[in-house]
Amino acid sequence: MTLILKDKAALRAWRSSLPAEVKLGFVPTMGALHAGHISLMEQARAGSDRVIASIFVNPLQFGANEDLSRYPRPLEADLAKLEAAGVEALFLPSVDDMYPPGSSTFVDESMASLPLCGAERPGHFRGVATVVLKLFNLVQPQIAWFGQKDAQQCAVIERMVRDLDVPVEIRRGAIVREADGLALSSRNVYLSAEDRAAAPLIYQSLKAAEAAYLAGETEAEKLSALGLSVLARSDRLVPQYWELRDPESLGTIARVGPGGALLAIAAFLGKTRLIDNLLLLPDRRPEAIS
Ligand code: PAF
Repeated sequence: MTLILKDKAALRAWRSSLPAEVKLGFVPTMGALHAGHISLMEQARAGSDRVIASIFVNPLQFGANEDLSRYPRPLEADLAKLEAAGVEALFLPSVDDMYPPGSSTFVDESMASLPLCGAERPGHFRGVATVVLKLFNLVQPQIAWFGQKDAQQCAVIERMVRDLDVPVEIRRGAIVREADGLALSSRNVYLSAEDRAAAPLIYQSLKAAEAAYLAGETEAEKLSALGLSVLARSDRLVPQYWELRDPESLGTIARVGPGGALLAIAAFLGKTRLIDNLLLLPDRRPEAIS
């Protein structure tokens, strides 16, 4: 049975009941769990002694015109998935418990959070960093898992943990995809049949750029033009960005160098905004392999 901890007091009591030497693994989520989340839970089970997840749809990371009110909240189905994944405890706080009236302190990472989703969704990473630091302070895990699909979120959290000396190790779990390449996302349920049919072009655009890179192309402009040309095969897909970035700082790069590159994309299908990414790793190029 997954134990449901409905507020901070219940969480604190549970946390303090654990023996001091326990290595606690943590998977924070906003619910609407899919196989990507479950793979993080499985990695957490394999990599720690005890596992706790959280479900909290964090209002602070949604913009005024975003999907906070319609964000899927299938709690019963989520609980069944957590049980099946062997997750021992679930922290399920309310908004008031997490943000009591009068809260006035926020966390701002000021480098990796600025471009890409940070530029398109002002305040988003402030909301993410604030809630994740609060969750870390409450749960006090030794290790926490985040999905690589949100590569920029991972970079922001890794920097926050490093810069603020938060005693938690961050691990990234690989992107889990549908058979046709679409990255799993809680927002995929919004897609109409026609939009769903066009969605695999997102991953195909990343793979086309990767193939060109492996064949010798390193110029960021050429690789992103190629990626965008693949997306243009469907007029349903409206790209917001398709960019190459330094994988750690998320700074701009003119060409892929020894540090590799993060290919990052955000695109709209109707009102649904999807993101995806792919890492270009220099050691996969033919001259590095031979
Ligand atoms: O990736 C998510 O689901 C959320 O951004 C997170 C990390 C749980 C913070 O609300």
